[in-house]
Amino acid sequence: MTTQQKMNPEPEVVFEGNYFLEGNYGPVQEEHVDTDLQVLGQIPADLKGNYLRIGPNPVYVSNVEKYHWFDGDGMVHAVQFEDGKATYRNRFVDTEGLKWERKEDRWLWRGMNGMMDGGAASPPEGAPAGKNPGNTAFVSHNGTLYALHEGSDPHILSLPDLGTVGTTNFDGKLTHAFTAHPKVDPSTGEMMTFGYSPFPPFVTYSVINKEGALVHSTPITIPKGVMMHDFACSRNYSIFLDFPLTFDIEAAMEGKSPLGFEPEHGSRIGIMPRHGSDEDVKWFTVDVGVVIHTANAWEEGDILVVQACRSKASDIIGAVEIDTDDPTDVLGQMYEWRINVKTGEITEGPLHEYYSDFSRINENYAGAKTRYTYSSEFDQTRAITFKSVMKFDRETGETQHHNFGEGRYVGEAVFAPKVGSTDEDDGYVICFIQDENVNQSECIIIDAKNFDGDPVARVLIPHRVPYGFHSGWVGA
Ligand SMILES: [Fe+2]
Repeated sequence: MTTQQKMNPEPEVVFEGNYFLEGNYGPVQEEHVDTDLQVLGQIPADLKGNYLRIGPNPVYVSNVEKYHWFDGDGMVHAVQFEDGKATYRNRFVDTEGLKWERKEDRWLWRGMNGMMDGGAASPPEGAPAGKNPGNTAFVSHNGTLYALHEGSDPHILSLPDLGTVGTTNFDGKLTHAFTAHPKVDPSTGEMMTFGYSPFPPFVTYSVINKEGALVHSTPITIPKGVMMHDFACSRNYSIFLDFPLTFDIEAAMEGKSPLGFEPEHGSRIGIMPRHGSDEDVKWFTVDVGVVIHTANAWEEGDILVVQACRSKASDIIGAVEIDTDDPTDVLGQMYEWRINVKTGEITEGPLHEYYSDFSRINENYAGAKTRYTYSSEFDQTRAITFKSVMKFDRETGETQHHNFGEGRYVGEAVFAPKVGSTDEDDGYVICFIQDENVNQSECIIIDAKNFDGDPVARVLIPHRVPYGFHSGWVGA
């Protein structure tokens, strides 16, 4: 490999006084297009498409101290691979909220923590009551790329230029919030989604057919509102997690957090046929825990297998206080439930000893039995920091780590199948890393079949890519 050239400028300090606004969490304000990027190694010829990463990147902040990581305006960072060359682009999701704030040149919505003491903001007449920051994750369905935020309508983005086409409510049929983690069944082309709310119906579920039409919706009854960030779908079932991140409206009225970790609520997994309704849901009680992200679900006869990163408790990234002395209690671990849907017999437990989140699979195998799961391993010396990407082999029980070196941190990686791929791990694991030693952002391409070997390519990004939320892959 050739010597790495430092290409990034020193971070521009926009805000000071909040961990999630400083260092490589700090936002960037300029949008760029850079072609023919410098590469250490070689971009494989059978890698073709767009690697995408989205995250919060605030332009205006109501209160720096109270800024929560979930609040920032969505920005997409993308690397397009074609003919062995790479192009970098970054662009804001051009949301209605951001347009209003830019027009007024000030913050208009307070954000998650700021609402506690200041109450809801009063946006100008004509502006939406809440902000849809479009900052969390992607789904690609029926040839359309969506940027998602779980309280809001999806934004449609264009590729490769990352333009914001606008929001969609599926011809007026979408009546609920839309999770950041819908599931696409590659065997039918259907997309399953849901939304949660602090008010009844606490959960509503919908199916969107392969042509992009919303064809089925049903409420899902649970006893009280919970923050249900993700769910899972096997070929026949949609699987809901009634876990104890609960809403408390009375507490919110008293100026306390509207969201808390309430172990007494318990944890239940609800299983419903894909086109079923509320009365078809069967609930199964499992050990108390918290799931932010699932990996996959599939059926083995009467056994439904659900995989996720699961922690014992959660402080919702500092939003609430919890009663524990063990910092690993809030860290996810790759975990599996095996539920006999006929007898109700359940076995559950962690799959290995490491702590991780951002669990992903080869999505061509979603809803079917998967052997490999990829996730990002926590660096426990710092909040929300990831030191490696792991490949877990369910067949051998082996975990491989791809480490990036001292002071080089990663976010979510995604699996990109090779052009013409033939088996589950026939492809590349792609991620952004930040080399904090020299303030250099890189896009790393790992051969999934040589996971703990050297990366096949390190693409040097000529601008800083802040840490963010989820990754996506749209193959060409
Ligand atoms: Fe997420």
